[in-house]
Amino acid sequence: MYLLAIHGSPRKNGNTDILLDSFLKGIKKEAISFEKIRLSKLNYKPCIGCGECEITGECVLEDDFKELYPKILKADFLLIATPVFFYNHTSYVQAFYERFQAFWARKYILKLPHPFNKTPKGILLCLGATKGKKLFESVVRSFKYVLDTVYGVYIGGLFIRGIDKKGEILDHPEYLKLAEDIASKLSIFSEEEIIKSPEKLGLNKSTSP
Ligand SMILES: Cc1cc2nc3c(=O)[nH]c(=O)nc-3n(C[C@H](O)[C@H](O)[C@H](O)COP(=O)(O)O)c2cc1C
Repeated sequence: MYLLAIHGSPRKNGNTDILLDSFLKGIKKEAISFEKIRLSKLNYKPCIGCGECEITGECVLEDDFKELYPKILKADFLLIATPVFFYNHTSYVQAFYERFQAFWARKYILKLPHPFNKTPKGILLCLGATKGKKLFESVVRSFKYVLDTVYGVYIGGLFIRGIDKKGEILDHPEYLKLAEDIASKLSIFSEEEIIKSPEKLGLNKSTSP
């Protein structure tokens, strides 16, 4: 099993970075191999809407995303760690998602199956400064649409309110422990159990968590 972990904040050693590292610490390496990608370090563009992928199934843009396409396709788990920026994921994550247009074209225009017959399971680690009731709603909705393009399923996330200053999450070891515990259970549970009962792992699958 392979987990692709995407870090979507521009802030290195910031809150989502620390939360994601706690999660990755909990993974049992004999069960799941993983890679962490920091989007802010990559040189990639958002989708330019050229439509070429509707003919070939491939994106024409020549940038760092080329290395990400095969990693996304081999992923059994796709994890997005993002802070809330203006009630959504960051622009880095938005541009990352837009490049799934090539997968959308493969599935819905070219009618191609997943090349490895996988069902990538989507996980969110998300936090924001305020306590807004609908703080994570857009983040969840977008991710579900994105997962659909790669025949994936959303299994839920960990959502934390009231975290703002850089590193403030360290004042809440209980959240870091939660992230670590989710990952360790992910390494133990069967795929069937994970999809059927994600709440047993501590994942929140609500549409507006
Ligand atoms: C451009 C920008 C927009 C933000 N928008 C929101 C917001 O809409 N709601 C919120 O609760 N927090 C918002 N925040 C606060 C961040 O979510 C918060 O600082 C978070 O802890 C940053 O995580 P990081 O350290 O991983 O970058 C915003 C921060 C920035 C820089």
